[in-house]
Amino acid sequence: MKLSDPRTLAALPELGVERIGGASLAERTSLGIGGITDLLLIRRHSALPELIALLRGAGVAYKFLGGGTNLLVKDGELPWVVLQLAHQEPGVRLEGNTAQVDAAADLGRMVTFCAKNDLGGMEGLIGVPGTVGGALRMNAGAYGTQIGSYVRQVEIYRAAAARIEMLRENEISFEYRHTSFAPDDIMLAVKLELPSKSYREIIEGIRVCNEKRRSSQPLNQKSAGCIFKNPPGGSAGRMIDELALKGFSVGDARVSDRHANFFVNAGHATCADMLSLIAQVRERVHVAYGVELENEVILWMQ
Ligand code: EPU
Repeated sequence: MKLSDPRTLAALPELGVERIGGASLAERTSLGIGGITDLLLIRRHSALPELIALLRGAGVAYKFLGGGTNLLVKDGELPWVVLQLAHQEPGVRLEGNTAQVDAAADLGRMVTFCAKNDLGGMEGLIGVPGTVGGALRMNAGAYGTQIGSYVRQVEIYRAAAARIEMLRENEISFEYRHTSFAPDDIMLAVKLELPSKSYREIIEGIRVCNEKRRSSQPLNQKSAGCIFKNPPGGSAGRMIDELALKGFSVGDARVSDRHANFFVNAGHATCADMLSLIAQVRERVHVAYGVELENEVILWMQ
């Protein structure tokens, strides 16, 4: 969508918002799939309520983009603009055992920044791509660690109330790849409380997780990580693998040879290719195991 309302366009600079016209979502998502739209880069959190009121007033639909690493976006001219928080490194301020982190900070860099300051606990998250905000919204987890365990406070833009709010840990629930945040809430910052650990010990934990990940996941290919959530007590990857679906493809969308729950864009896959692959694999698993796999990847279709 191309923003054209003159009043909206004129107000953006005053709000500290930069417009990037004709931004490609294929270039901004790890799957490398997605159409074109205007992207609004937000430099001041405090401008969000006014910006969103402005867009709503002008009848402009919007979506909020984090790191784009767990996302499948439709192709072509997109019917909404995309908002994104601008980021300044490192985006982490430490005080004792607490880390105040910008939602736009890179998750992996945040983990290593804390490690250098002898704060650990999140070693398992090291190879999870994306932003801290994205990890928070989905309660990202790996190798026995989930980010929600360390959260003490979260600053969000609460869409239902159209204002910025501060939530304490007891006001948020973190479950397996699910949180109590509303789909249209926007993560702005988080306060984490982390255990003290020596840098050497943390780095050793990071090394072990990196090795496990490298040996089991297709890290050098375009993907959105795991496509399906694991069903209770089961493993989506193992089921898909047992059905001999590794390498199964629709166009350039392909089930990874390395990890069957990773679907990769092996060239110029379209969104339709990927959706068809997801639907076919889900159906095959359903027929064979009677299990309806739920998407882990987020879809932006309308
Ligand atoms: N397996 C196979 N074949 C495969 C893949 C896996 O047989 O192609 C088997 C493995 O041998 C293992 C079991 O399935 O016995 C589980 O596999 P793995 O340890 O790789 O973990 P996963 O359950 O498939 C989960 C998360 C990953 C996370 C890893 C490591 C989900 C949906 N996935 O994968 O997260 O990195 O554990 O902790 O919860 C993601 O969220 O995008 C993601 C990649």
